[in-house]
Amino acid sequence: MTKLNEFTQLLRDRLPLSVVIARFVAIKKKGREYSGLCPFHEEKGASFTVNDDKGFYHCFGCGAHGDLFNFVMQKMNLPFMEAVEYLAQQANLSVPQLESAKVNSEAKEAQQSLYQVMEMACQWFESQLRHSQAESVRQYLMKRGMIGATAKKFRVGYAPEAGLKEFLLKAGCIESQLIQLGLIIQSEKNTRTYDRFRSRVMFPIQDVKGRVIAFGGRIIEQGEPKYLNSPDTPLFHKGRQLYALNHSLSKARSGQPFVVVEGYMDVISLHQNGIETAVAPLGTALTPDQLQLLWRTSPTPILCFDGDTAGIRAAERVAQKALEVITPGYSLSFCFLSDGEDPDSYIKQYGTSVFQQLLGAAKPLIEVLWNDFIAKQDLSTPEKKAKARKEILGLTNQIRDPDIQHFYRQDFNSRLQNFLQSQWNKNGRSYVPTASLVTKKLTLTKKNADGQKILLATLLNHPTLVSQVSEQLMDLTFADGSLNDLRQKLLDICGENPHIEVISLKEQLQQAGFGATLDQLLCRDVYHKARFAHPTTDLQQAQSGWLEIWTAMQEVHNLKQEVTQTAAELSSSLDEQVWQRLKLLKKTLVVRKTN
Ligand code: UTP
Ligand code: MN
Repeated sequence: MTKLNEFTQLLRDRLPLSVVIARFVAIKKKGREYSGLCPFHEEKGASFTVNDDKGFYHCFGCGAHGDLFNFVMQKMNLPFMEAVEYLAQQANLSVPQLESAKVNSEAKEAQQSLYQVMEMACQWFESQLRHSQAESVRQYLMKRGMIGATAKKFRVGYAPEAGLKEFLLKAGCIESQLIQLGLIIQSEKNTRTYDRFRSRVMFPIQDVKGRVIAFGGRIIEQGEPKYLNSPDTPLFHKGRQLYALNHSLSKARSGQPFVVVEGYMDVISLHQNGIETAVAPLGTALTPDQLQLLWRTSPTPILCFDGDTAGIRAAERVAQKALEVITPGYSLSFCFLSDGEDPDSYIKQYGTSVFQQLLGAAKPLIEVLWNDFIAKQDLSTPEKKAKARKEILGLTNQIRDPDIQHFYRQDFNSRLQNFLQSQWNKNGRSYVPTASLVTKKLTLTKKNADGQKILLATLLNHPTLVSQVSEQLMDLTFADGSLNDLRQKLLDICGENPHIEVISLKEQLQQAGFGATLDQLLCRDVYHKARFAHPTTDLQQAQSGWLEIWTAMQEVHNLKQEVTQTAAELSSSLDEQVWQRLKLLKKTLVVRKTN
């Protein structure tokens, strides 16, 4: 028996399977076995059984089956050795030096000393920030809203013009080590070496155990490059580590999703404002390795992007890459900030609860892929439609998991179907009014203003309709200046982004100063008069209702215009026939308005 086998047997002896499983699932003893709801699939009846004597669990529903180690690997998404480590912790044991690991023990020792050097460097940077000469740096951090406790928690430091190299050499470090760690750089012209980080605010990058493995340094105020990072070293592989993961794990374990942002200052600012699961990749787009790292703790991390074109493109790239690695239950979602904002500036301006609302409305992966796809399509002929279908289904080929691939195909197919259907309705103007929605139609139009409010409210709750009714919307005449402005803004925003989400639309309008107008439109009074305006109504009904009201209002509007024209005619000719016509028109108008 190898040592590892002995150790895993020891773990099996110390930890009954039911005890380990009970930490994750409620199970009840029934005879010799335990049973409960299966943690590996959704179910109502208890088909999951655990047998301590045999050391196996089995689900009669989905077929999940395995031992202690399989359970932890599956449930916590851990590789085998890490499952062993986790269980060792549970059993209050430490994993012994295993046979194969012994060979590497020398290399390990060398690594150990590299960690120590990084720790010394970090402490030195921290001490430099406390130095009296760093007053302006502390001012800068204060100006950016960083409080002392936050700087301490993230071990923020300062690298002056020089000094680290001398300090570390005096402390007994070897120059080649410092080069290896990327702390000092060798000049290309001669053998002279100098500090890599000079006059920068220093952000140490720590691994999950809290060990310092690299640094990011920000220039104070202006300069290039804005951020300078450690190169890849024996301790640091930038595509495989995440900034602030060590500070985010505990909240993520308790169920809060990770929030992935772009920068160091974004992470720190979010943590300081109560979003304590914020992490950032290090100067790259999120890699599949980093995603796996997040999935070990949280099934659906939320990625934050700028709302500008660059942000949307970046999201699209990450979304496509992610398709290769998603597995049942594990995905990612996306949220977009308004143009020109980053998470740091956003949370400072709007506060934590608005930011949390934004996170709550994060779009699932499929939504982002679909929106990117449909925005680019020309579906004017059967050939183009067929090409579009090929393209979207082709995208699903990148999904490695067959079950997920199947559901993505199904979902894309029906989205495309629905989309084509709505296009058809729009072009053919063959909408079908729904009886229940029309009952209140005429009382609605009693007041023109009510009708206008209903039309706008419907579009605010169903912004995808805007592009479909834009002509009709432009035809409307609004007496109220603020409604008129809102109509224009709505056309602008949706013209640029026809598939905009309700939440980001409202947010943009709020920022543009329409807050009070929105409150006036999105209220019970309006929904009471027209149910189809309500956010929960489906798009088809909202569309029919909208067109119904629009048509009725347009009729009244045309009649009024005719009345005005006829009256003008009458005043110039005093013709009996014209007078009769005016009388009739006025009567129709009254009937129309009060019916
Ligand atoms: P940004 O330029 O958007 O900076 O870069 P920021 O995070 O908003 O920084 P502040 O608020 O001005 O301090 C976003 C991220 O891209 C990486 C860094 O991780 C940075 O936080 N980056 C940027 C670099 O690695 N190098 C650079 O030169 C610039
Ligand atoms: Mn910023």
